[in-house]
Amino acid sequence: MVKAAVLGASGGIGQPLSLLLKTSPLVDTLALYDVVNTPGVAADLSHISSVAKTTGYLPENDGLKEALTGADIVVIPAGIPRKPGMTRDDLFKINASIVRDLVKGIAEHCPKAFVLIISNPVNSTVPIAAEVLKEANVFDPKRLFGVTTLDVVRAETFTQEFSGQKDPSTVQIPVVGGHSGETIVPLFSKATPAFQVPEDKYEALVKRVQFGGDEVVTAKNGAGSATLSMAYAGFRFAVSVIKASKGETGIVEPTFVYLPGVIGGAEIAEATGLEFFSTLVELGKNGAEKAINILEGVTEKEKQLLKACTEGLKGNIEKGVDFIKNPPPK
Ligand code: 2OP
Repeated sequence: MVKAAVLGASGGIGQPLSLLLKTSPLVDTLALYDVVNTPGVAADLSHISSVAKTTGYLPENDGLKEALTGADIVVIPAGIPRKPGMTRDDLFKINASIVRDLVKGIAEHCPKAFVLIISNPVNSTVPIAAEVLKEANVFDPKRLFGVTTLDVVRAETFTQEFSGQKDPSTVQIPVVGGHSGETIVPLFSKATPAFQVPEDKYEALVKRVQFGGDEVVTAKNGAGSATLSMAYAGFRFAVSVIKASKGETGIVEPTFVYLPGVIGGAEIAEATGLEFFSTLVELGKNGAEKAINILEGVTEKEKQLLKACTEGLKGNIEKGVDFIKNPPPK
């Protein structure tokens, strides 16, 4: 029996993500939590003739506790989205405390759940979550994930003309680093099946993967950032985590993890100088079973991308850790 909880379920990402989870036969119980509108979202979804029993919770009447108690997997898209001209880092001020408070709830009510963080800036909110769980003495690095799947999805889509696949998702393209601008590093040289990106198209293609989120922010013209594709990506990653937890083997996904706590992670931490990094991770019954180092043998151009990535990511991670260790005055 799998209980999934979505925190921020009434929002732009939360609603389509909850819809996808509701339609999945892998989910038996679906708990929707948000500060507004969850009873309506849950009532609407509950008419769908699928397995999951769906309930909406608000902050009153211990709603967070009720939503989280017994949860096996918690997905967090809560927070505010970007408007044109904003970077993901600009969201820190508001989203940092939202994620902190929700993860405090997880530490208290379902410390063994898999925690999937979508709320931006992921490069900082995942370190925030880790620090909160550490402070509560319940941190299991194998169970905390930053969802970077949308970068993978974008890489698959934007390279279709070169991979030649009718279904672009059949190509595996490792995208490593973080989930923001230059911290996003697509490793086209490691794609399987292999394909060539023409020299004169390479730079634009990398930029498109790195800044694909901006295309959506601009097109939505003030109405937010990617919600539907992000919900799809979050769902795709959640399904992988659930399937692996039920014993399916051979599931490998790029995800942003705390390297020192995952087998194989120390080597990547040493190579990058970073404690958090998105890399290929083999998923298993307990979550992140193994971090796979694919940084060996990358091209010169990819090395340059990795250099810019690690410089940016370092500050993002420190900002998150510092937010919990040296909290700002209230
Ligand atoms: C994006 O990449 C919303 O962070 C999300 O567009």
